[in-house]
Amino acid sequence: MNRFKLLPLYCLIAAFSVADGQQLTVAQKVDALMKKMTLAEKIGQLNQVNGDWAATGPITTDVGDKLEQIRKGQIGSVLNITGVAHTRAFQDAAMQSRLKIPLLFGQDVIHGYSITFPIPLGEAASWDIAAIERSARIAGTEAAAGGVHWTFAPMVDIARDPRWGRVMEGAGEDPYLGSQIARARVKGFQGNGFGSLDAIMACAKHYAAYGAAIGGRDYNSVDMSLHTLWEFYLPPFKAAAEAGAATFMNSFNSLNGTPASASSYLQRDILKGKWGFKGFVVSDWNSIGEMVQQGYAKDNDQAAEFAIKAGNDMDMESRSYINNLEKLVAAGKVPVKLIGEAVRRILTKKFEMGLFDDPYRYSNADREKSVLNKPEFIAAARDMARKSIVLLKNQGQVLPLSKNLNRIALIGPLVKAKKEMKGFWSLDIGDEGKIVSLYEGMQQAAGKTQLLYAKGCDITDTSRTGFDEAFKTAMQADEVVMAMGERPDMTGEAKSRANIHLPGVQEELIQKIMATGKPVVVLLMSGRPMVFNWTADHVPAILYTWWLGNEAGNAIADVLYGNYNPSGKLPITFPRTEGQIPIYYNHYNTGRPPQNDSDVNYTSAYIDLPNSPKFAFGYGLSYTAFKYSNLKLSGKSLQSNGAIIVSFDLTNTGKYAGEEVAQLYLRQLISQPVRPVKELKDFQKIMLQPGETKTLTFTIDKEKLSFYNDQLQWGTQPGEFNLMIGSASDDIRLQDGFELL
Ligand code: GLC
Repeated sequence: MNRFKLLPLYCLIAAFSVADGQQLTVAQKVDALMKKMTLAEKIGQLNQVNGDWAATGPITTDVGDKLEQIRKGQIGSVLNITGVAHTRAFQDAAMQSRLKIPLLFGQDVIHGYSITFPIPLGEAASWDIAAIERSARIAGTEAAAGGVHWTFAPMVDIARDPRWGRVMEGAGEDPYLGSQIARARVKGFQGNGFGSLDAIMACAKHYAAYGAAIGGRDYNSVDMSLHTLWEFYLPPFKAAAEAGAATFMNSFNSLNGTPASASSYLQRDILKGKWGFKGFVVSDWNSIGEMVQQGYAKDNDQAAEFAIKAGNDMDMESRSYINNLEKLVAAGKVPVKLIGEAVRRILTKKFEMGLFDDPYRYSNADREKSVLNKPEFIAAARDMARKSIVLLKNQGQVLPLSKNLNRIALIGPLVKAKKEMKGFWSLDIGDEGKIVSLYEGMQQAAGKTQLLYAKGCDITDTSRTGFDEAFKTAMQADEVVMAMGERPDMTGEAKSRANIHLPGVQEELIQKIMATGKPVVVLLMSGRPMVFNWTADHVPAILYTWWLGNEAGNAIADVLYGNYNPSGKLPITFPRTEGQIPIYYNHYNTGRPPQNDSDVNYTSAYIDLPNSPKFAFGYGLSYTAFKYSNLKLSGKSLQSNGAIIVSFDLTNTGKYAGEEVAQLYLRQLISQPVRPVKELKDFQKIMLQPGETKTLTFTIDKEKLSFYNDQLQWGTQPGEFNLMIGSASDDIRLQDGFELL
């Protein structure tokens, strides 16, 4: 008998690893550790609790002594915790546990850590994938230096309803743009890979279809066909998984009657099965426990059973797992192997992050001091902010501002706002002094021009007492710049608005100031598309600035003075009014499409409103103009494994250097099921000097022509296609057709 056969396998592995040092794989290290763990300790790894900082959800009461629970191995991860000192204290407790399994520290590093970048919807408006990746890279680098291992980002929810407050957190309505940005953000956060001291784990959320909450009401139910789910809502999640996202977070909503945390279809069949996802799934805040409120589970015990069986690995803040799983295993209701699978996924990430080599490796005070707020990071934030600004209107070339003006009046409730510039889901790591208000940005840029100021009104208050002073101030100026918008806490989680008009009496103030006859520029600051029709129809120059972060004031001044020519394009449709919602560009044609905005003769149209949006997906102006010409296709047909090369010339016909986002849209004319009237399939953002022409090319291949059919199979159908190239989804400059054979 070969004596080796008598030794348990893990002794052999341990023996070899000891002899060979680095020979042990992560999987083998996990195996060896799990063999030592009790069931209770394994369940402890599935339990995530809130740190001592701001809660990002309803607080569960009487949770006991968290540090003591960590010492007992009952907690595997802590969220809402930042800073080297704070994370070290919690890790110390973990090092006093029996097996010294390090904690994972998670935080919502959504658009910056110490330096805040534009909100994600604003960054999406840049259509600058490299800049978006860099923004996430910097956020990840700072967070890693601040003791954070894991960000609950990118949020990749497709959103077609601006009443939903979390529209600010994603990349808008389009699956293609959303997928490109999902990849960029995952790569940005995860940088040089787990274990690198400037990389943190990403978390694609909220899986899935959270943005389709009925009525745009946060946390509301979602009901959609699986075809719509696969065609429009899953692609950015698939892209995030393909980009190697370390984790996924499921969503609060039920999808077709099943809460996402209990959905084996989403978490096991699709994510871990079809897509082969090897990371782990964390619930959203108490989303497991909320199965009871949903009427899906009778109690937390049953919720825990449903969730672990459905593939939800970690329980954020519901304590359903820690309080019930051991009993469920003992009662034979939950196979112990499901616990093992979940623990294995979580421990694998802790090993990959190097936390077993050094649990404190991300909590280094010297690195925290040297990495945060680097000048090059601040410069990148300014660059990202400038690129996120969308020029909606510039009648009579009111912009850019002349440097020779004697006086500019800065009017509005957001002129001197500072912390507001950070928007929702920003962290208070650094001091607010670093945030540049519009007023401060203009002071830096205005040179000899004198700046006058009047607040005029508040954001939501209906008092008009400031109007007269604002009017008088405007009368003394050569030009007026107004900073208007929402409060940053009006768009975000649990911030749905049934009325998305510019709030308060702000539009009345704009009317009052327009009555001075001065040239007026309106800046609109918000996390969502707002309705502001009078302003849009009467004010000559309008910039949508979202919430631009620390460098807001400098970036806006750069654009106002033409130091940067605005290049942003809307990543989401702007409705004329709430009654149009949901409205999005990639809609189906219907059997009775209106021929124009006033065609209501037995057509799919409103009799009291034009059908078109106020501003379309992909729309954004420049201080210069671009001409599209000379469209050529390498062929008028292709086999499914072939390709067509599309080329065209783009010319800057104006007097300013500027960037254009040339957009490629396709439409399959006949298919089963039907296809949208147009779908974004590619884009290029390119800088052109005045008078310069460049030839751009797009490649049309099987990937761009594929879609999910009625059986949810990804593939192509032969047929005719329209090809459209334009400056916006409603501004098509070149068209042609081809056939897929
Ligand atoms: C919140 C959000 C989620 C966030 C989590 C932790 O409720 O839904 O996006 O990551 O809780 O803060």
